[in-house]
Amino acid sequence: MLVVPLIERKRDGGALTPEEWSALVAAYTDGRIPDYQMAALLMAVLLRGLERHELAALTDAMLASGQRLAFDSWPTPRVDKHSTGGVGDKVSLVLTPLVAACGVAVPMMSGRGLGHTGGTLDKLEAIPGFRTVLSLAEIRAQVMKIGCAMIGQTPEIAPADRRIYALRDVTGTVEAIPLIAASIMSKKLAEGLNALVLDVKRGSGAFLPALEQSLELARTMIALGEDRGCPTVALLTAMDRPLGRACGNALETEEAILALRGEGPEDLMEVTYALGVEMLLAAGVEKTSKKARHRLENALGSGLAAEKFERMIEAQGGNPGVVEDASVLAQAKEVEVYKAPRTGVVVRVEPKVIGRAVVAMGGGRLKVEDPVDPTVEALAQAIVVADKLTAKPLPLVSHRVTKSGVEELTRPDSGRTSRSPR
Ligand code: URA
Repeated sequence: MLVVPLIERKRDGGALTPEEWSALVAAYTDGRIPDYQMAALLMAVLLRGLERHELAALTDAMLASGQRLAFDSWPTPRVDKHSTGGVGDKVSLVLTPLVAACGVAVPMMSGRGLGHTGGTLDKLEAIPGFRTVLSLAEIRAQVMKIGCAMIGQTPEIAPADRRIYALRDVTGTVEAIPLIAASIMSKKLAEGLNALVLDVKRGSGAFLPALEQSLELARTMIALGEDRGCPTVALLTAMDRPLGRACGNALETEEAILALRGEGPEDLMEVTYALGVEMLLAAGVEKTSKKARHRLENALGSGLAAEKFERMIEAQGGNPGVVEDASVLAQAKEVEVYKAPRTGVVVRVEPKVIGRAVVAMGGGRLKVEDPVDPTVEALAQAIVVADKLTAKPLPLVSHRVTKSGVEELTRPDSGRTSRSPR
């Protein structure tokens, strides 16, 4: 196929037809189009954007490049959650078994850490033996038996996204709203879901920090989901500071386990419950936010959610004893307390700096002969101590976006989240 005229048309602000997108994606996935031509086209998309019909065609073509999870006539509702990525964000580890314990199946497909953000798969793999690579048949059987599975993108699902994503990663074309939306939704729509809940991060530690960009990404993904018969709702949540207290794979897994045992930090629980409420409402197992929240709290308080996590770990080859005894997780050889450089209050903890420090440590780039411990350097840079709070942090859960519009969940005077009764 002749790709140059298509690149030129996009470069000059024109649109490709659905047939052209479909042929392009199929040819690239089969290796019939070289990376350099696809990279040029992706850059043109980043600069020029996509029209709605183009985005739909691209997403459909990526979805059609692979297989889908099919649950046939199985009556249990299936809902997944997707986060656009953050630091300290271990919500998926708590939410998946928690929602499954409430009678909603969660076939969760997650990714690895990207840039400064952590990845759910990396956190799960901190559990000795845990397998994140399952075949579609294994995922289906496990979800139908236990109610949840947490896995990586299988080679069968949206292979076009795998190739395109890897190319974007090395060509400066990750931060394009239509490309992010097509990438995420092509995978999520392959999961055989009844509904999808999105956690769109905003703030300095998010890939798209500005509120307007987060809203646009949310709206774009919602339109893609809804148009394809998958009701989709998004919450905008704060990523101007790390979520919870722990950052780093094993530490975050430990914190998630504590959360499932009822000892989670307040911010982590607030975001988890807010997303869980949306999942139960979307699944239709509860009619009001209040009832959904109660159901989630009961599932957690009764130990059902922790038990679900144990069963899932066991089914995926991991050591389920980790839920009782988190010391099964890898432990740091040395622990050092970082002392505040001055008296005062912590006014800021910059997630990007913390995230990069975690990546650097996990990447094995620390050498014993380093003169200064970069972790300490990073903490000094990330944690700002001053006499008093200078700016208010972002509200934890600030907006709810649906196909009908955007609902602001914060009261301007209190800075606390509130929700209009449903
Ligand atoms: N996550 C994805 O799966 N794709 C993107 O493009 C960005 C985040």
